[in-house]
Amino acid sequence: MNLAVIGLQWGDEGKGKAINYLAPEYEVVVRYQGGHNAGHTIYHKGEKIILHLLPSGIFSPSTVSVIGNGVVVNPVKLTEEIKGVEKFGVNCNNLVLSSTAPLILPEHQQLDVVFENSRYIEIGTTRRGIGPAYEDLTGRRAVFTGDLFDKDRFYNKIKPLNEYYNKLIRTFNGKEIELESYIDEYIEYGKFLKEFTKNSIYLLNGFLKQGKKILFEGAQGVLLDINFGTFPFVTSSNPTVGGMFTGTGLPHKSLDTITGISKAYTTRVGGGPFPSELKGDTGEYLRKQGNEYGSTTGRPRRVGWLDLVALKYAVMVNGVDDIFLTKLDVLDELEEIEMVTGYQTDGDISTIFEPDHIYLDNVTPVLKKFRGWRSDTSGIKVYKDLPEEAKEYIRFIEEFSEIPVRAVSVGVSSEQTIKNCKE
Ligand code: IMP
Repeated sequence: MNLAVIGLQWGDEGKGKAINYLAPEYEVVVRYQGGHNAGHTIYHKGEKIILHLLPSGIFSPSTVSVIGNGVVVNPVKLTEEIKGVEKFGVNCNNLVLSSTAPLILPEHQQLDVVFENSRYIEIGTTRRGIGPAYEDLTGRRAVFTGDLFDKDRFYNKIKPLNEYYNKLIRTFNGKEIELESYIDEYIEYGKFLKEFTKNSIYLLNGFLKQGKKILFEGAQGVLLDINFGTFPFVTSSNPTVGGMFTGTGLPHKSLDTITGISKAYTTRVGGGPFPSELKGDTGEYLRKQGNEYGSTTGRPRRVGWLDLVALKYAVMVNGVDDIFLTKLDVLDELEEIEMVTGYQTDGDISTIFEPDHIYLDNVTPVLKKFRGWRSDTSGIKVYKDLPEEAKEYIRFIEEFSEIPVRAVSVGVSSEQTIKNCKE
């Protein structure tokens, strides 16, 4: 049975831990969107490792890890990451890089910075060139990993692009990028990446035919989706279900189950609406307790209560089958916990999530209070041992979202996972 794991919030839900925990059951793990804006934190043999581009299956030696055609690839960062994990004794022989993944060029990163500095709304991007690289794909100008292996081909493709980009960069008073400053370097990175690069579309479909078990690894989250998220405060790809197929070339029938990852509360990095945001002491407490600082940029994350209206929307637009609830232990000491069950505007209460930032900025969240359990859950291994108040909290999430919670995470290590959430 093939599985997809996606974030149900604004990213940082703990997908790295969940996927690393589930990966050994799968023979293939494929990333289908995003780039090195992602930061999937994994504890491998007691060491904390943050993966940005490598699929989280990389630590499982028998798993084939595929960077699909929907991922935007910075060859410098990918090379550094491969060499970085190899230092931890991880073998990347089973890594596959799609030959049709769009490249992130230095100009893209520069454009991301100048756009951020000059836009009337600051999105708070990771400034890694993700948006401009995807713009070039839809603008039909993109250059792909497969173009890196022949200098003339690469040069001829990027020469007119470089002129075009520099015109744009000049308009925004940014620093122009000289093609000659990086072309040889990119060709060298290409030499290193060549052994991993394949036609991933045929390869993945071959695995499907052979009946190999495939896991689709989402990056970011549903509320950051370019089509379904809180536009314009979104990323430039589709973490949602459609992205799995455009980003791999696998047919929709290849997917059997979708597990959505949600924290027991909510966080977001960057700008944008956040109806359940906590700005006072409780917010500060959760940020500290949950170590809520961006794994890619180090920025403090904004924190708030779990928003069930948003969660149910995320479940709906993806047909999510079950939930992997993370960081329950972060709530352990709270006397009272709240969840959003509706949005109030001018006396009306709605349970519809309109992904419209002006609307969301102006709603008052309707909050349901829960008694805290005030005990340490981090060592609990089976569901029946959880405090009654924690079970009540989980049952309410299931009731509201109308899907089961399949597992609960109560700490960073794989062992701190309660996998069967039935009495
Ligand atoms: P970009 O993806 O760098 O263009 O950034 C767009 C928005 O998505 C910003 O608010 C980022 O903070 C957010 N974002 C991008 N990647 C992640 C992620 O992996 N986790 C959380 N937020 C992210």
